[in-house]
Amino acid sequence: MNYKIALIKGDGIGPEVVGEAVKVMDAIGEKFGHTFEYTDILMGGRAIDEVGKSYPDGTAEKCKACDAVLLGAVGGPKWGHSTDPDKRPETALLSIRKDLGLYANLRPAALRPALAESCPLKNDKGIDLMIVRELTGGVYFGKKDRYTTEDRGEEASDLMAYSEKEIERIGRRGFELARLRGKKLVSVDKANVLETSRLWRQIMHKLGSEYPDVQYEDVLVDNAAMQLVKDPGQFDVVVTENMFGDILSDEASMITGSIGLLPSASIGDTAPGLYEPIHGSAPDIAGQDKANPIATILSVAMMFRYSFDLPTEAKAIEDAVDAVLNEGWRTADIAKPGEEVIGTLKMGELIRAKL
Ligand code: IPM
Ligand code: MG
Repeated sequence: MNYKIALIKGDGIGPEVVGEAVKVMDAIGEKFGHTFEYTDILMGGRAIDEVGKSYPDGTAEKCKACDAVLLGAVGGPKWGHSTDPDKRPETALLSIRKDLGLYANLRPAALRPALAESCPLKNDKGIDLMIVRELTGGVYFGKKDRYTTEDRGEEASDLMAYSEKEIERIGRRGFELARLRGKKLVSVDKANVLETSRLWRQIMHKLGSEYPDVQYEDVLVDNAAMQLVKDPGQFDVVVTENMFGDILSDEASMITGSIGLLPSASIGDTAPGLYEPIHGSAPDIAGQDKANPIATILSVAMMFRYSFDLPTEAKAIEDAVDAVLNEGWRTADIAKPGEEVIGTLKMGELIRAKL
């Protein structure tokens, strides 16, 4: 098969980590008889510098002409302060999610066997959970307002809204993924306070009756934050709304002790899906061959699994990564004091050699 891949290399370490991921894709292509055709797409901070906006016209159309999108990282302190949405890199991220209909964000947080000691918590069960974050609704996309009142001075508001349809489609994803994994689903909400959460819970319970084989539980978001640090091994799949998922997925990634290893997938009902490491653009180490390319390489594995239905190829990548880590190779972010450190290029090369 020939697959068309949109590459949004982006800012900071983005181009370096995407570079290594592309070489891994090509190696897989050679081994399994696929070809990949790449289209570079400009988005984020570099786009602000080059064409004056972070989300250039036609970005979504160019992506839609491809089978999947691989994104490095966008943003950096250089573009951090504008009040003009066109000049903020985040605008591009939110827009592409909306325009491509990427309502489901899958963020696995797993302890890789070779790095089990990187987990900063006492934990004997291991960690292998998947956060399913709603990605195109809720307070991040609700109406925003800024106005001056007579008695209270300046005031701002962000509207949080969810529809039955939005909840049902992400809830279903949660149940389906739980079915493919450990058959346990936790739905996180704040139903003791928020009306959106009460609707969320109602829809989830209705869906639950269709999935009697999945063990289901509601957990309030504050409790979920505590449980994640207390006993992360108890979780399998966690489904939640946009902002809760944003926060909890960062918490979950941190407890694996190695944010440089974690991939993500953003998918909708139609192609293309978008795949990206969850780490940021790390401008402080950009261009120095220091970044860990593993999160981006594992994002390619997710692309193969979720967009192309190529589980064997996905597993080959994951096994190659584990083999290299098991041999003790470390980039700076995952090295312990005194351990030998290798760079981005070398890490990519070692992983390809295992394929
Ligand atoms: C993420 C990021 C983005 C989000 C920001 C940069 C808009 O934090 O992908 O989690 O909140 O979705
Ligand atoms: Mg975030």
